[in-house]
Amino acid sequence: MASFIPPALPSDDKRWKIVHATMRKNGFARHALIETLHTVQSSFGYLDEDAIRFVARSLRVPLSQAYGVVTFYHYFNLKPPGRHTVTVCAGTTCFIKGADKLIATAQKRLGIETGHTTPDGEVSLMVARCVGACSRAPVTLMDGEVQGEMTSEQMLAQLERWTVE
Ligand code: FES
Repeated sequence: MASFIPPALPSDDKRWKIVHATMRKNGFARHALIETLHTVQSSFGYLDEDAIRFVARSLRVPLSQAYGVVTFYHYFNLKPPGRHTVTVCAGTTCFIKGADKLIATAQKRLGIETGHTTPDGEVSLMVARCVGACSRAPVTLMDGEVQGEMTSEQMLAQLERWTVE
């Protein structure tokens, strides 16, 4: 049987690499469906039609099955998150290097828990597992752009820029 070639990533947004890594780790097996959808949700804050299609095609599951999972679990969000998204990597290396402090700082500044969006719809705060840039820990993704060696001060400065735009 010809070996399966997974579809290309939907865009060069770095967050797709995280999604891809989850599927690859599971050998693109169908049982990775929920875990992969979780990864999309935690990286992007929601799942749109393109994302669901991409995951379904990559894992060779019927689109209806992927939609079935997304609509069954309340955890999944089909609506776009805030205008900006800060995603803090909470993988082991980043955690050791202070990711928990970054998360606490962002929660305090934005007044929201992780997985949520500020009431004005400006900023969503997400948490990801290892984003594959451990040598630069602690890492955040600011609107999908990897930024390493992040400090609370730098992150707050970026949040400030977003909220005064
Ligand atoms: S643990 Fe954060 S990039 Fe690997």
